[in-house]
Amino acid sequence: MVTLGEGTSAGSVISGKYPADRFLMALLRACADAVLLGAGTLRATPGHLWTPAHVFPQHAEGFAGLRRSLGRNPEPRLVVITARGEIDASHVAIQHGALIFTTRRGAEACRPLVPASCEVVVTGEGGREGEEVDLTAMIHELRNRKLGVLLTEGGPHLIGELIDRGLLDEAFLTVSPVVAGRADERRLGMVEGVELLPKRGVWSRLLSARRHGDYLFLRYGLRA
Ligand SMILES: NC(=O)c1ccc[n+]([C@@H]2O[C@H](COP(=O)([O-])OP(=O)(O)OC[C@H]3O[C@@H](n4cnc5c(N)ncnc54)[C@H](OP(=O)(O)O)[C@@H]3O)[C@@H](O)[C@H]2O)c1
Repeated sequence: MVTLGEGTSAGSVISGKYPADRFLMALLRACADAVLLGAGTLRATPGHLWTPAHVFPQHAEGFAGLRRSLGRNPEPRLVVITARGEIDASHVAIQHGALIFTTRRGAEACRPLVPASCEVVVTGEGGREGEEVDLTAMIHELRNRKLGVLLTEGGPHLIGELIDRGLLDEAFLTVSPVVAGRADERRLGMVEGVELLPKRGVWSRLLSARRHGDYLFLRYGLRA
Protein backbone atom coordinates (compact mmCIF):
# COMPACT_ATOMS: atom_id res chain seq x y z
CA MET A 1 0.00 0.00 0.00
CA VAL A 2 1.40 3.42 -0.93
CA THR A 3 -1.63 5.69 -0.42
CA LEU A 4 -3.77 6.70 2.53
CA GLY A 5 -6.99 7.76 0.87
CA GLU A 6 -8.17 11.17 -0.23
CA GLY A 7 -6.52 14.31 1.03
CA THR A 8 -3.34 12.81 2.48
CA SER A 9 0.07 13.11 0.87
CA ALA A 10 0.98 9.54 1.58
CA GLY A 11 4.73 9.22 1.00
CA SER A 12 5.92 11.38 3.87
CA VAL A 13 3.30 10.01 6.29
CA ILE A 14 4.22 6.38 5.50
CA SER A 15 7.96 7.08 5.84
CA GLY A 16 7.43 9.20 8.97
CA LYS A 17 9.59 11.85 7.21
CA TYR A 18 12.58 9.66 8.02
CA PRO A 19 15.74 11.65 7.17
CA ALA A 20 17.53 8.79 5.36
CA ASP A 21 14.47 8.26 3.15
CA ARG A 22 14.34 11.96 2.34
CA PHE A 23 18.06 11.99 1.60
CA LEU A 24 17.68 9.09 -0.83
CA MET A 25 14.74 10.80 -2.52
CA ALA A 26 16.82 13.97 -2.89
CA LEU A 27 19.78 12.01 -4.25
CA LEU A 28 17.61 10.32 -6.89
CA ARG A 29 16.22 13.70 -7.91
CA ALA A 30 19.74 15.14 -7.99
CA CYS A 31 20.79 12.49 -10.52
CA ALA A 32 17.78 12.92 -12.83
CA ASP A 33 17.31 15.17 -15.86
CA ALA A 34 13.56 15.14 -15.22
CA VAL A 35 11.02 13.94 -12.66
CA LEU A 36 7.84 12.38 -14.12
CA LEU A 37 4.53 12.58 -12.28
CA GLY A 38 0.99 11.54 -13.00
CA ALA A 39 -1.45 14.40 -12.46
CA GLY A 40 -3.03 12.47 -9.56
CA THR A 41 0.18 12.79 -7.55
CA LEU A 42 0.47 16.49 -8.34
CA ARG A 43 -3.12 17.01 -7.16
CA ALA A 44 -2.50 14.99 -3.97
CA THR A 45 0.65 16.91 -3.02
CA PRO A 46 -0.02 20.63 -2.75
CA GLY A 47 2.90 22.87 -1.88
CA HIS A 48 5.56 20.37 -3.00
CA LEU A 49 8.48 21.02 -5.34
CA TRP A 50 10.06 17.96 -6.96
CA THR A 51 13.63 19.16 -6.42
CA PRO A 52 16.45 17.74 -4.25
CA ALA A 53 16.57 20.89 -2.13
CA HIS A 54 12.88 20.79 -1.29
CA VAL A 55 13.03 17.34 0.23
CA PHE A 56 16.48 17.64 1.87
CA PRO A 57 17.30 21.36 2.22
CA GLN A 58 20.24 20.86 4.57
CA HIS A 59 22.32 19.43 1.65
CA ALA A 60 21.00 21.73 -1.08
CA GLU A 61 24.47 22.95 -2.02
CA GLY A 62 25.90 19.47 -2.16
CA PHE A 63 23.12 18.31 -4.49
CA ALA A 64 23.61 21.40 -6.69
CA GLY A 65 27.33 20.56 -6.90
CA LEU A 66 26.54 16.96 -7.78
CA ARG A 67 24.26 18.13 -10.60
CA ARG A 68 27.00 20.41 -11.94
CA SER A 69 29.52 17.57 -11.87
CA LEU A 70 27.05 15.34 -13.76
CA GLY A 71 26.50 18.07 -16.36
CA ARG A 72 22.82 18.38 -15.42
CA ASN A 73 20.72 21.56 -15.42
CA PRO A 74 20.52 23.26 -11.99
CA GLU A 75 17.22 21.51 -11.25
CA PRO A 76 15.43 18.50 -12.72
CA ARG A 77 12.62 19.45 -15.11
CA LEU A 78 9.19 18.51 -13.77
CA VAL A 79 7.12 16.52 -16.27
CA VAL A 80 3.40 16.14 -15.51
CA ILE A 81 1.21 13.69 -17.44
CA THR A 82 -2.52 14.30 -17.70
CA ALA A 83 -5.30 13.20 -20.04
CA ARG A 84 -7.94 15.64 -18.80
CA GLY A 85 -5.64 18.63 -18.33
CA GLU A 86 -7.01 19.30 -14.88
CA ILE A 87 -3.95 21.05 -13.53
CA ASP A 88 -3.96 23.48 -10.61
CA ALA A 89 -2.13 26.42 -12.15
CA SER A 90 -1.52 27.90 -8.69
CA HIS A 91 0.43 24.82 -7.51
CA VAL A 92 3.92 26.00 -6.60
CA ALA A 93 5.53 23.33 -8.82
CA ILE A 94 3.49 24.50 -11.81
CA GLN A 95 4.37 28.11 -11.08
CA HIS A 96 8.02 27.00 -10.91
CA GLY A 97 7.69 25.57 -14.43
CA ALA A 98 6.83 22.18 -15.89
CA LEU A 99 6.49 20.28 -19.11
CA ILE A 100 2.90 19.08 -19.30
CA PHE A 101 2.30 16.10 -21.58
CA THR A 102 -1.33 15.72 -22.45
CA THR A 103 -3.93 14.96 -25.09
CA ARG A 104 -5.50 17.45 -27.47
CA ARG A 105 -8.49 17.74 -25.12
CA GLY A 106 -6.24 18.17 -22.07
CA ALA A 107 -4.21 20.86 -23.82
CA GLU A 108 -7.39 22.84 -24.55
CA ALA A 109 -8.27 22.67 -20.85
CA CYS A 110 -4.93 23.61 -19.32
CA ARG A 111 -3.08 25.73 -21.89
CA PRO A 112 -5.03 28.93 -21.16
CA LEU A 113 -4.49 28.52 -17.40
CA VAL A 114 -0.88 27.50 -16.81
CA PRO A 115 1.88 30.13 -16.49
CA ALA A 116 4.44 30.92 -19.19
CA SER A 117 7.01 28.86 -17.25
CA CYS A 118 5.16 25.75 -18.44
CA GLU A 119 5.12 24.12 -21.86
CA VAL A 120 2.13 22.01 -22.89
CA VAL A 121 2.99 19.17 -25.28
CA VAL A 122 0.35 17.06 -27.04
CA THR A 123 1.41 13.43 -27.38
CA GLY A 124 -1.97 11.79 -27.33
CA GLU A 125 -2.41 10.47 -30.82
CA GLY A 126 -0.71 7.13 -30.18
CA GLY A 127 -2.54 6.41 -26.91
CA ARG A 128 -5.79 4.54 -26.40
CA GLU A 129 -8.17 6.19 -28.90
CA GLY A 130 -6.16 9.39 -28.56
CA GLU A 131 -7.36 9.75 -24.99
CA GLU A 132 -4.09 9.04 -23.26
CA VAL A 133 -0.54 10.22 -23.55
CA ASP A 134 1.56 7.70 -25.46
CA LEU A 135 4.31 7.20 -22.88
CA THR A 136 6.77 5.70 -25.39
CA ALA A 137 6.38 8.76 -27.63
CA MET A 138 6.72 11.01 -24.59
CA ILE A 139 10.02 9.38 -23.55
CA HIS A 140 11.27 9.73 -27.14
CA GLU A 141 10.35 13.43 -27.06
CA LEU A 142 12.11 13.90 -23.71
CA ARG A 143 15.26 12.25 -25.10
CA ASN A 144 15.14 14.68 -28.05
CA ARG A 145 15.19 17.46 -25.48
CA LYS A 146 18.31 15.95 -23.86
CA LEU A 147 16.25 14.73 -20.89
CA GLY A 148 17.53 11.17 -20.86
CA VAL A 149 17.74 10.22 -17.17
CA LEU A 150 14.15 10.06 -15.96
CA LEU A 151 12.97 9.53 -12.40
CA THR A 152 9.31 8.77 -11.87
CA GLU A 153 7.73 9.40 -8.50
CA GLY A 154 4.49 7.79 -9.53
CA GLY A 155 1.80 7.56 -8.60
CA PRO A 156 0.40 4.05 -8.80
CA HIS A 157 -1.46 4.43 -12.12
CA LEU A 158 1.53 5.93 -13.92
CA ILE A 159 3.84 3.27 -12.44
CA GLY A 160 1.39 0.56 -13.53
CA GLU A 161 1.37 1.84 -17.07
CA LEU A 162 5.16 2.16 -17.25
CA ILE A 163 5.60 -1.40 -16.00
CA ASP A 164 2.87 -2.70 -18.31
CA ARG A 165 4.67 -1.21 -21.31
CA GLY A 166 8.14 -2.35 -20.21
CA LEU A 167 9.29 1.25 -19.74
CA LEU A 168 10.47 1.04 -16.12
CA ASP A 169 14.12 0.03 -15.75
CA GLU A 170 14.52 0.16 -11.98
CA ALA A 171 12.45 0.65 -8.84
CA PHE A 172 13.67 2.08 -5.54
CA LEU A 173 11.50 0.91 -2.67
CA THR A 174 11.60 2.01 0.94
CA VAL A 175 10.16 -0.45 3.44
CA SER A 176 8.96 1.60 6.39
CA PRO A 177 8.50 -0.12 9.75
CA VAL A 178 4.91 1.01 10.20
CA VAL A 179 1.67 -0.98 10.18
CA ALA A 180 -0.89 1.01 8.20
CA GLY A 181 -4.03 -1.10 7.86
CA ARG A 182 -7.10 -0.33 5.80
CA ALA A 183 -10.86 -0.55 6.22
CA ASP A 184 -13.49 0.90 3.89
CA GLU A 185 -11.66 3.63 2.04
CA ARG A 186 -9.88 2.60 -1.14
CA ARG A 187 -6.13 2.74 -0.67
CA LEU A 188 -3.96 2.19 -3.72
CA GLY A 189 -1.06 -0.23 -3.98
CA MET A 190 2.22 0.50 -5.72
CA VAL A 191 0.86 -0.67 -9.08
CA GLU A 192 -2.70 0.18 -10.14
CA GLY A 193 -4.74 -0.05 -13.32
CA VAL A 194 -3.00 -3.11 -14.68
CA GLU A 195 -3.34 -6.77 -13.71
CA LEU A 196 -0.04 -8.66 -13.93
CA LEU A 197 -0.24 -11.83 -11.79
CA PRO A 198 -1.33 -14.57 -12.24
CA LYS A 199 -1.01 -14.39 -16.01
CA ARG A 200 1.91 -12.05 -16.52
CA GLY A 201 4.09 -11.60 -13.46
CA VAL A 202 6.85 -9.04 -13.87
CA TRP A 203 9.83 -10.49 -12.05
CA SER A 204 12.65 -8.26 -10.90
CA ARG A 205 16.21 -8.60 -9.62
CA LEU A 206 17.33 -7.19 -6.30
CA LEU A 207 20.26 -4.93 -7.21
CA SER A 208 21.00 -3.64 -3.72
CA ALA A 209 19.61 -3.69 -0.20
CA ARG A 210 20.61 -1.20 2.46
CA ARG A 211 19.41 -0.80 5.99
CA HIS A 212 19.30 2.40 8.03
CA GLY A 213 17.82 2.01 11.50
CA ASP A 214 14.54 0.14 11.10
CA TYR A 215 14.14 1.02 7.40
CA LEU A 216 15.10 -0.96 4.31
CA PHE A 217 16.12 0.70 1.06
CA LEU A 218 15.77 -1.69 -1.86
CA ARG A 219 16.77 -1.24 -5.48
CA TYR A 220 15.27 -3.57 -8.06
CA GLY A 221 16.05 -4.02 -11.74
CA LEU A 222 12.95 -4.72 -13.81
CA ARG A 223 14.43 -5.31 -17.23
CA ALA A 224 15.53 -8.80 -18.22
N1 LIG B 1 3.84 6.47 -1.25
C1 LIG B 1 4.39 7.04 -2.29
O1 LIG B 1 5.60 6.99 -2.43
C2 LIG B 1 3.54 7.75 -3.33
C3 LIG B 1 4.13 8.25 -4.48
C4 LIG B 1 3.34 8.90 -5.42
C5 LIG B 1 1.96 9.04 -5.21
N2 LIG B 1 1.42 8.54 -4.09
C6 LIG B 1 -0.04 8.68 -3.86
O2 LIG B 1 -0.75 8.18 -4.97
C7 LIG B 1 -2.03 8.80 -5.00
C8 LIG B 1 -2.39 9.18 -6.43
O3 LIG B 1 -2.54 7.99 -7.16
P1 LIG B 1 -2.83 7.99 -8.73
O4 LIG B 1 -2.66 6.59 -9.20
O5 LIG B 1 -4.10 8.70 -9.01
O6 LIG B 1 -1.63 8.91 -9.24
P2 LIG B 1 -0.95 9.14 -10.64
O7 LIG B 1 -0.56 7.88 -11.32
O8 LIG B 1 0.10 10.14 -10.32
O9 LIG B 1 -2.07 9.91 -11.47
C9 LIG B 1 -3.01 9.30 -12.28
C10 LIG B 1 -3.37 10.34 -13.31
O10 LIG B 1 -2.25 10.61 -14.13
C11 LIG B 1 -2.66 10.87 -15.44
N3 LIG B 1 -2.13 9.83 -16.33
C12 LIG B 1 -1.47 8.69 -15.99
N4 LIG B 1 -1.10 8.03 -17.11
C13 LIG B 1 -1.55 8.77 -18.16
C14 LIG B 1 -1.47 8.64 -19.57
N5 LIG B 1 -0.83 7.63 -20.18
N6 LIG B 1 -2.04 9.59 -20.34
C15 LIG B 1 -2.66 10.64 -19.78
N7 LIG B 1 -2.76 10.83 -18.45
C16 LIG B 1 -2.20 9.89 -17.65
C17 LIG B 1 -4.18 10.90 -15.42
O11 LIG B 1 -4.47 12.26 -15.09
P3 LIG B 1 -5.83 13.04 -15.38
O12 LIG B 1 -6.81 12.46 -14.40
O13 LIG B 1 -5.49 14.46 -15.08
O14 LIG B 1 -6.20 12.83 -16.80
C18 LIG B 1 -4.47 9.96 -14.26
O15 LIG B 1 -5.76 10.17 -13.69
C19 LIG B 1 -1.97 9.98 -4.05
O16 LIG B 1 -2.68 9.65 -2.89
C20 LIG B 1 -0.49 10.12 -3.73
O17 LIG B 1 -0.27 10.63 -2.44
C21 LIG B 1 2.16 7.88 -3.15
